[in-house]
Amino acid sequence: MEDRQSLRSNIRKRRAQQEPAWCETNSRLISQHLAASHVYQRAQRIAFYLAQGNEADLGLLLQNAWAAHKEVYLPILGLRYSGQLWFVPCAEDTPLYKNRFGIDEPVHAPHTRRTKLRNLDLILMPLVAFDQRGNRLGMGGGFYDKTLASLQTTSHHWSRPKRIGIAYAFQGVEALQGQTWDVPLDAIVTEQGLHWFTRGTE
Ligand SMILES: Nc1ncnc2c1ncn2[C@@H]1O[C@H](COP(=O)(O)OP(=O)(O)O)[C@@H](O)[C@H]1O
Ligand SMILES: [Mg+2]
Repeated sequence: MEDRQSLRSNIRKRRAQQEPAWCETNSRLISQHLAASHVYQRAQRIAFYLAQGNEADLGLLLQNAWAAHKEVYLPILGLRYSGQLWFVPCAEDTPLYKNRFGIDEPVHAPHTRRTKLRNLDLILMPLVAFDQRGNRLGMGGGFYDKTLASLQTTSHHWSRPKRIGIAYAFQGVEALQGQTWDVPLDAIVTEQGLHWFTRGTE
């Protein structure tokens, strides 16, 4: 099995090579699959992300969510060195600023950082690779793992929030070596559609 680091860099390289028009077409398909899904339609509080580089871009779905009066949240960096994310509300007209990694974050009131994960219905997360069992490989910072770790210890069923990975189909691999701290996905959406992972009792 390819090690995590070279797999990360190979898939990131391949993604970086895609033409903007290809990314746009497939990102649109991904947004359409989600928009048509029961899980999205039922969700009222949804954590999105803003695509970096050639990551699958949920911009269209974001517009749809605001139009449908859903509550949109975006991740911001938590306390320095915590490696955690906080999800803060973001309206269509909320101004953005750049965090220390140059990634846009919504301007927000400090008390809104206390949004409880359990109150979110759906977390849509970017990734570098996913496998057939729902293991997720991120950029290497473990941000989503650290952020969602508390859910893992407090619930067996994880009914909420649903964790859905967003990627192009070529980011799928046969099997990833899941680490003990890796928080798996409930489902993946690619340009080919939405797929739920089935897992045994956890
Ligand atoms: N819940 C956690 N608590 C503390 N450290 C964590 C936790 N989850 C992940 N990490 C650390 O984050 C680092 C990156 O995790 P990794 O899963 O490799 O990255 P990614 O999920 O971004 O691909 C690892 O060194 C791991 O030890
Ligand atoms: Mg991980």
